[in-house]
Amino acid sequence: MSNWTPDSWRALPILQQPTYENQTELKEVEQQIASFPPLVFAEETRELRRQLGEVAEGRGFLLQGGDCAESFADFNAANIRDTFKVMLQMAVVLTFGGKVPVTKIARMAGQYAKPRSADLETIDGVSLPSYRGDIVNSFEFTEQARKPDPQRLITAYHHSASTLNLLRAFAQGGLADLHQVNRWNMSFVASNPNRERYQHLADRIKDSLEFMEVLGINSDTSPTIKETQLFTSHEALLLNYEEALTRRDHLTGNWYDCSAHMVWIGERTRQLDNAHIEFFRGIHNPVGVKVGPGMDPDELIRLIDAVNPKNEAGRLTLITRMGADVIGDKLPALVRKVQQEGRKVVWSSDPMHGNTIKASNGYKTRNFDSVLREIQQFFAVHKAENSWAGGVHFEMTGQHVTECTGGAYGLSEADLSQRYKTQCDPRLNADQVQELAFLITDALKDAKI
Ligand code: PEP
Ligand code: CO
Repeated sequence: MSNWTPDSWRALPILQQPTYENQTELKEVEQQIASFPPLVFAEETRELRRQLGEVAEGRGFLLQGGDCAESFADFNAANIRDTFKVMLQMAVVLTFGGKVPVTKIARMAGQYAKPRSADLETIDGVSLPSYRGDIVNSFEFTEQARKPDPQRLITAYHHSASTLNLLRAFAQGGLADLHQVNRWNMSFVASNPNRERYQHLADRIKDSLEFMEVLGINSDTSPTIKETQLFTSHEALLLNYEEALTRRDHLTGNWYDCSAHMVWIGERTRQLDNAHIEFFRGIHNPVGVKVGPGMDPDELIRLIDAVNPKNEAGRLTLITRMGADVIGDKLPALVRKVQQEGRKVVWSSDPMHGNTIKASNGYKTRNFDSVLREIQQFFAVHKAENSWAGGVHFEMTGQHVTECTGGAYGLSEADLSQRYKTQCDPRLNADQVQELAFLITDALKDAKI
């Protein structure tokens, strides 16, 4: 890797960074974090990269999801558990229904930094710095709260560490046992309009487990029945934080960003000559890049070659976020070009960020049907191009929020005010996400290439 160091990005232009008043304090904080233990370990990260390699080759499916932005205020065991549960349930539905191994990556344990469309927010004639996520400043609209505070980088590190601790415990400690996951379905769907469909799936899983039991395959003989693996990810926006957690692996001598297993670059910071691409070039994690409707096929190939020059399957995930009305126009040329040029990538669909709208009552929302339409077209385009639609990327929560309209309960714009809790983008709630899992299963069965 020519001329790359964990801080070589510092010589290049960078967008979407906060402006800190006290640079000395910032430096001290960066040094402190550099002395902290890594949050994830190279071996885990290599395992994720291996799994994503399978996905890139059409032998697996990626499920990535979680909050738009985690917040310090919502940091508690119940929230973490509920998002974990809903991810797992989705994965079970997709694995069982789609007959394909599912790799699970949470937008958790580090998803604290947000790019914003404007540097300032103005309310009633008062302009203050925009909220950039809890790792930078506070959501509250006061001068003090909106001032970027370096100490928040340390708080975010500790919150991430505790979140990871719980996730690891849940994944290994029985909560992930398939027998349990099946039981959650029952309490979870009691009043759901799709109840019969869940019930049917749950019964089939139960039958399969009993059959395997007879053959001597159970939680004791086969750990995959009682354990799972949930990897972590976030948008690597604040490169000083990422740099401080970038460590050289003793086994291979390679550099890994140990803040999460996977990190991605957002749509707003993926310029080829800028700092984010430079930083990603040198870390050995599997990485993602968001791809919006402005991307052209030649630029995409240049981006792929910058981040994955050896064309290794599993290294790069392209997360397309086009919008339901645009994807049909824009995605085919990109997929065709990547196929023609023989580049190995995981294609994943983020059906959220191209479908954000303002409801008539002012709420920022997304409609379930637009989300579904984008996913369905994503599958259709890949099928037509003989390419593998490798995954989905959601903003979602295990909580019963009312932030996106539509779904089986027919949430209307008037319902949004009931439990609208997000500090950032609107998330699918547990029911909406579960419903999507079933609908994606149908597309997945049909997608085999
Ligand atoms: C996000 O994933 O929360 C996000 C900001 O996405 P994008 O970079 O695609 O706008
Ligand atoms: Co978002």
